Amino acid sequence: MNALPFDVPGDPATPLFLAPQAGVSESPFRRLCRSFGADIVLTEFVSAEGIVRGSRRTADYLRFDDEERPIGIQIFGADPDAMAEAAALVTEVYAPDFVDINFGCPVKKVVRRNGGSGCLRDPGLVGLIVRAVVAATRLPVTAKIRSGFDEESRNPVAIGRICRDAGARMVTLHPRTRADMYSGHARWEEIADVVRALDIPVIGNGDVRSGADARRMLERTGCAGVMIARGCHGAPWLFRQCRAALDGLPIPGEPDVRTRFRICVRHAENAVAFEGDADKAVREFRKHLGWYTKGLAGGRRLRRILFRVRDLRQVRAVLESYLGRTADGGCSEPGRGIIVTGSRARPDPARAGGPLIDRALG
Ligand SMILES: Cc1cc2nc3c(=O)[nH]c(=O)nc-3n(C[C@H](O)[C@H](O)[C@H](O)COP(=O)(O)O)c2cc1C
Repeated sequence: MNALPFDVPGDPATPLFLAPQAGVSESPFRRLCRSFGADIVLTEFVSAEGIVRGSRRTADYLRFDDEERPIGIQIFGADPDAMAEAAALVTEVYAPDFVDINFGCPVKKVVRRNGGSGCLRDPGLVGLIVRAVVAATRLPVTAKIRSGFDEESRNPVAIGRICRDAGARMVTLHPRTRADMYSGHARWEEIADVVRALDIPVIGNGDVRSGADARRMLERTGCAGVMIARGCHGAPWLFRQCRAALDGLPIPGEPDVRTRFRICVRHAENAVAFEGDADKAVREFRKHLGWYTKGLAGGRRLRRILFRVRDLRQVRAVLESYLGRTADGGCSEPGRGIIVTGSRARPDPARAGGPLIDRALG
C-alpha cells in the first residue's frame, strides 16, 4: 500500500524523504533539501526524556519552519510512558505532521539504555512503545527500524509486523542490523519482503547515492518512498536527481564547483541565522564544509583551511580564493584540476595537488 498517512504536496508516486540524522538533518539543511526536491523531512532523533524535561537543547532540535512541512519529529527512548508523554507534548507544542519512533540508532550510549536499535532485542517492548505513542497522539505514528539487533535476531518482517499491529501507519526499513552498523550493503531484498508482508506503506532506506540507485531501489523493492541520508551530505541536489530518475526523466548532472559553493554558502548563511550564535554555527558547519569540498582537486588542503574558519566572511573568502585559483572559476574543465563527470567531481590525477590556496585565511 502506497498512500502515506499525511498529505504530501504534489502527491508524488514515490516520495523522497530526507532521513533523520543527528547533527545533520537540522532545520537549515532540511529547508535546503526541500528546495531540491525532498518531499518529506524528519528531525534528528530526540530523546523522550529530554523532551519531557524540557531542556533548551532539546527545544532547539524540535524547532522547524512551516515551509519544511510535511515533517516528522523523531523520538527515541525505552520507557513507553516517557515516550507517550513526549509524543503528547510534541503534538501539542510543535504539531508536526507525524511522529516517528526510532528503533534503529546503533550508538552504544543509546543502545545501552535499550533506546534506538537496543529495543530490537525485545520485540515485546517495541510493541509496547508503539502502542503507548499511538494512544498519546492524534498524529500518525510511524517507525524507523533496522533488520534486527544482530544476525541471530535478524527478522525485519516480524519487527515490521509488530509495529503495524501496534498501530504504526508507515514503516521505514534500513536493512542492516545493529551489529552491522554501516558495514556491507543494505539488503534491499529485505525491504521487498517487508513491502510484501505489510499493508501499510514501507519506505526503503540504505545506500542510495545517485538517481539510478533510487530507481533501482524502487524497482527491486516496490517501496512506497525512498529515504536518503549519507548520499545527500554536501549534495542536497541529489534529491533533484532522484526525482528525475524516479519519474523516468533525464537525470541532471552534478552542479559545477561554483554552483556547489554557492549552495554551500547559502546553507551556511541559513545555519548562522537559525543558530543565532554565529561562532557555534560556523564551528558546527565544518562537517558540511568537508562534505561540500569532497572530491575537489586539492580538497585536503582546502579543508585544512576551511576547518579553521571562524565566521561566514572567512568561509566566503576561502571558497572564492579557491575558485580564483582554479583559474576557470570552478567550471570544471579537465586539465584545470577538477573533472566533473556523471557522478561527483573528482581530482584530475594529472593536476591533483597543484597550486591552490597558499595563503591561509589572510
Ligand atoms: C550522521 C548520521 C546521523 C544519523 N542519525 C539518525 C537519527 O537521528 N535517527 C535515525 O533514525 N537514523 C539516523 N541515522 C541513520 C540514517 O537515517 C539512515 O538510516 C542510514 O544512514 C542509512 O541510510 P543511508 O545509506 O542513505 O545513509 C543517522 C545516520 C548518519 C550518517
